[in-house]
Amino acid sequence: MKALEGVKILDFTHVQSGPTCTQLLAWFGADVIKVEQPGVGDATRKQLVDVPGADSLYFTMLNHNKRSIELNAKNETGKAVLTRLIEECDVLVENFAPGALDRMGFSWDRIQEINPRIIMASVKGFGPGKYEDCKVYENVAQCAGGAASTTGFLDGPPLVTGAQIGDSGTGLHLALGIVTALFQREKSGRGQKVLAPMQDGVINLCRVKLRDQQRLATGPLKEYSQFGEGIPFGDATPRAGNDSGGGQPGRILKCKGWETDPNAYTYFIIQAAVWEKVCDVIDEPEWKTAPGFAKPADRLDKLNQIFSRIEEWTMTKTKFEVMDTCNPLDIPVGPILSTKEIMEDEGLRATGTIVDVDHPERGRYVSVGCPIKLSDSPVEVVRSPLLGEHTVEILQQVLGYEGDELEKVISSGAVGEARKVAAE
Ligand SMILES: CC(C)(COP(=O)(O)OP(=O)(O)OC[C@H]1O[C@@H](n2cnc3c(N)ncnc32)[C@H](O)[C@@H]1OP(=O)(O)O)[C@@H](O)C(=O)NCCC(=O)NCCS
Repeated sequence: MKALEGVKILDFTHVQSGPTCTQLLAWFGADVIKVEQPGVGDATRKQLVDVPGADSLYFTMLNHNKRSIELNAKNETGKAVLTRLIEECDVLVENFAPGALDRMGFSWDRIQEINPRIIMASVKGFGPGKYEDCKVYENVAQCAGGAASTTGFLDGPPLVTGAQIGDSGTGLHLALGIVTALFQREKSGRGQKVLAPMQDGVINLCRVKLRDQQRLATGPLKEYSQFGEGIPFGDATPRAGNDSGGGQPGRILKCKGWETDPNAYTYFIIQAAVWEKVCDVIDEPEWKTAPGFAKPADRLDKLNQIFSRIEEWTMTKTKFEVMDTCNPLDIPVGPILSTKEIMEDEGLRATGTIVDVDHPERGRYVSVGCPIKLSDSPVEVVRSPLLGEHTVEILQQVLGYEGDELEKVISSGAVGEARKVAAE
């Protein structure tokens, strides 16, 4: 049995933010029915194509364990089928541009009228306010949510991060909103509207940076490298390079091979509790007691000197040897892993976080499995559906269309070339 078995999701999502949310729900056992424009489908199917003619990795890696129905929601028959889907489903998830659903004739009022128990969950770029009508993509959200202004080095421009905190991060927020609303419905019997704006999701993930914004009022942020370097603070949380956010000095340091390998680096934190062990490892035992070095506060203006000395040591070791030496001593370090190393990691494969998936058009590919592990709800990663692969199956099994009624829907053109059964 799966945690969300029996829950039907009308998945009206596209691109990344919405699909990551519904993929998680599918992994937890929900029946996710992806509604796609006939002949076109989710735009990502044909974006960044690597195997000509096949769905792209962009699409396949975000849409596992779903079923696909082609449906034109702007044609009368299509609207009738969509109405039946709304009647049957527990949750409608969408991330269209603001107003798109209303333009199709499916406002929240109308959706509630059709099914008062349904939960309608949306990703939008911004919440209500002056930017609510904007279309928004990942990097816009990172910039508007405080991530870019606090990422990068002090003397460089704002930077976006590779982690898709605006899209996939908001998908996670939305998934939590949906299961919470489902839980409340158990008691209230009513559905509700769930909104996860991307800007708000990024702000939530930048919470510690807003913490620091307020701390500026009472003095400089002493754990930031710029404090020790005597650089004054401005009126907003600055970019902190690779400083650690938790108050303990940390840096990214070169390891053996850095000259040719762009990822031969380690993260290294000089936690106060293990300072003496750090001194032993780098062979500077006198720093344990020397004035200016023994106490954490006294070390702040010497962090460049201290980390340079530690780096002299890390450069004699591979990033994994640094880990092997420091971990048993509780010195917090972490290798900078490349995507290649992550995809080849046996441990991640054993836990199902990295998986191989077979696909009829593109063959075998590597994907990221479910990152959240439930002991009583195992996840089996199933390939993404071909466009409209389950159109007839959904019309029959979920909506009960049969005989003439089914023929009428198919011949109306509302569901694409539904007669064609996708080749496996
Ligand atoms: C992502 C985004 C910028 C893409 O914009 P876009 O490519 O122009 O796509 P839209 O959402 O505007 O949808 C395009 C049109 O397709 C239509 N459409 C989509 N599926 C359809 C279907 N099955 N049947 C009929 N029409 C359909 C929509 O109704 C819309 O038509 P309209 O412009 O007449 O209202 C936009 O959807 C958005 O801002 N979404 C919210 C924020 C978000 O999730 N962003 C991150 C994405 S990773």
